[in-house]
Amino acid sequence: MSFKLNHLSYGVRLFASGLAVVALIGLGLATSTPSAPTNAAGNKYIGADKCKSCHASETSGNPHGKWLETTHAKAFEKLGSDDAKKIGKEKGAEDPQKADACLKCHVTAFGVPAAELKAKPEQLKNVQCEACHGPGENHMKARFAAAAAAGDNPDTSKRQVVPEGEITVKVEPKDCKVCHHDQSPTFKPFCFHERLEKIAHYDPRSGHKIEKPLTACPCDDDCGCKKGDCAKLPKKQ
Ligand code: HEC
Ligand code: HEC
Ligand code: HEC
Ligand code: HEC
Repeated sequence: MSFKLNHLSYGVRLFASGLAVVALIGLGLATSTPSAPTNAAGNKYIGADKCKSCHASETSGNPHGKWLETTHAKAFEKLGSDDAKKIGKEKGAEDPQKADACLKCHVTAFGVPAAELKAKPEQLKNVQCEACHGPGENHMKARFAAAAAAGDNPDTSKRQVVPEGEITVKVEPKDCKVCHHDQSPTFKPFCFHERLEKIAHYDPRSGHKIEKPLTACPCDDDCGCKKGDCAKLPKKQ
């Protein structure tokens, strides 16, 4: 696997995944309403403060509050530390908070064209929700519309059903490894399941939880794919 992603190819990757979603939606149109919201092209990054307005309640597991406790929420500030300046100096980045070579993994939506950003750059500092879940504008609009339709006393004991494609739900190892790879000056091997435990923010009402590793090799998981283990496992399809 190669992780020589620079900021250009990161943009291309987001664009390409947008196209894939467009293709899926094209297929889905015959069966769903044409106005179904999507996570496709035209969707924009809105910033974590917007997510906070709906994703900070205890009934939902407070994903925004959990995120604030992770270092992702302070990744930009970290670039102002003495450690960061030292690393920056070695890499020719005198001020890491202004250097693309550092920002590309310490902010959200780096390299995404301005036309796809609803939020201002200062609202996209740090590794926010949309770094993992993709742009959220269409989702926000759809949920506001659903809330308006539900009236004054919505039943919050159950989760609303969000149509597939409205926002990215499934986040896989490869989505983390856009940043967690060996071009990071402080790279540490990335064991997905261990790391996921540190950032998890499941909704108690969803019944979702961390799926434990490893059913086939090669896997995307540096901790699971030890040579000895791999020999015992079936080959990936
Ligand atoms: C946009 C880049 C980016 C993406 C995508 C990303 N991370 Fe990170 N991650 C970082 C940065 C940068 C830090 C360090 C922040 C700091 O120290 O201030 C970090 C730190 C972490 C830490 C904390 C390490 C520690 O011991 O404090 C964990 C755990 C982690 N990431 C897990 C994940 C997982 C799991 C995913 C995918 C579901 C993921 N990350 C996706 C950039 C990213
Ligand atoms: C390819 C993505 C990437 C780039 C480029 C990058 N970082 Fe990071 N940075 C990370 C990730 C991911 C982490 C979290 C480390 C971990 O837990 O594995 C991190 C963590 C850090 C930390 C916290 C120390 C630590 O060990 O957790 C500092 C300081 C830092 N980066 C500074 C910088 C500076 C300065 C630059 C630019 C010269 C830079 N980074 C460029 C991804 C990146
Ligand atoms: C570093 C990556 C990352 C960041 C940042 C992140 N998430 Fe997530 N999120 C995930 C992963 C991974 C899952 C679990 C997906 C799975 O198990 O398939 C998830 C799941 C969710 C779920 C569904 C929970 C459930 O029980 O099904 C919600 C809602 C959610 N995130 C909202 C947010 C919000 C809001 C933010 C910002 C405040 C945020 N996330 C930030 C990676 C991230
Ligand atoms: C207007 C309110 C609102 C806003 C703003 C909002 N969401 Fe949501 N989101 C919801 C609701 C409602 C659900 C359905 C689950 C529930 O009932 O809590 C949901 C579900 C999700 C899910 C899980 C979808 C699934 O199928 O399980 C993710 C991931 C998510 N939101 C991420 C985000 C992110 C990231 C942002 C900001 C970019 C955001 N949301 C902004 C209301 C909102």
